Amino acid sequence: MNSKDIKLIADFVAQRLEMGETEWFFKPESLFTNEFNSIGSPSHMSERKSKQKVAENAVLRGHPAIEKESCTNNDSNDSFSAAQKSLQELYSTVCGCMRCPLGQSRTKFVFGDGNPQADIMFIGEAPGADEDRQGLPFVGRAGQLLTKMIKAIELHREDVYIGNILKCRPPGNRDPKQEEIEKCEPILIRQIEIIKPKIICALGRISGQTLLRTKSSLTALRGKVHDYRGFKLMVTYHPAALLRNPKWKSAAWEDLKFLRREYDGMEL
Ligand code: URA
Repeated sequence: MNSKDIKLIADFVAQRLEMGETEWFFKPESLFTNEFNSIGSPSHMSERKSKQKVAENAVLRGHPAIEKESCTNNDSNDSFSAAQKSLQELYSTVCGCMRCPLGQSRTKFVFGDGNPQADIMFIGEAPGADEDRQGLPFVGRAGQLLTKMIKAIELHREDVYIGNILKCRPPGNRDPKQEEIEKCEPILIRQIEIIKPKIICALGRISGQTLLRTKSSLTALRGKVHDYRGFKLMVTYHPAALLRNPKWKSAAWEDLKFLRREYDGMEL
């Protein structure tokens, strides 16, 4: 075992402790694939083989601000490009939306970001101040934690698609209003129809309750696969809630393992 291996083991242990786990079984190979704690340390990232179809063009975003790169001409690239084009067309249609008063107060319209053919889609409630400034979802502190959560299930942010129910920031980060949801949710529904994820992960109670049209508690919603317009949907903690209450991280980690199992049966 060399110093690089020791560092990997230390990173793995630190990650599991951060997620609230105090006991675990070592699967030797998992030491070399788990990246929750490795942001900024690219030592083993480049060697990682994702189980998901992260083709070289998966870095292309559904977000139109990012330039499309050239793709080789085969069926999977065709469907990737078609999904990307549909998202770009949708964006062009809706990005100037003024259907509710949030259109007046927003700085930027936050459409969504990620792989146009993602198998996993994360959905938050609405952009916050950082997202409103940058026009991208989950880029503030909560977003950084979401990135770590995605890495904990051995995926990259570019593998998944991240969006929100509302595309414009509610002033003062208040909860979305019913009339805002009614105006904005059709955009999300269309995004889901284009992306066709295998599973959607609603981030937080408000997101879960809003999408599922229920007043059930987060506790009642977690740990189950629900149906959202024919798509599988599960609910977990909002990363902002985990920042406020780190003791919930171990429960969130259980949800993430559940998500990964539902996605491809992989045990973490
Ligand atoms: N919280 C959300 O629900 N969405 C974001 O994009 C950022 C913070």
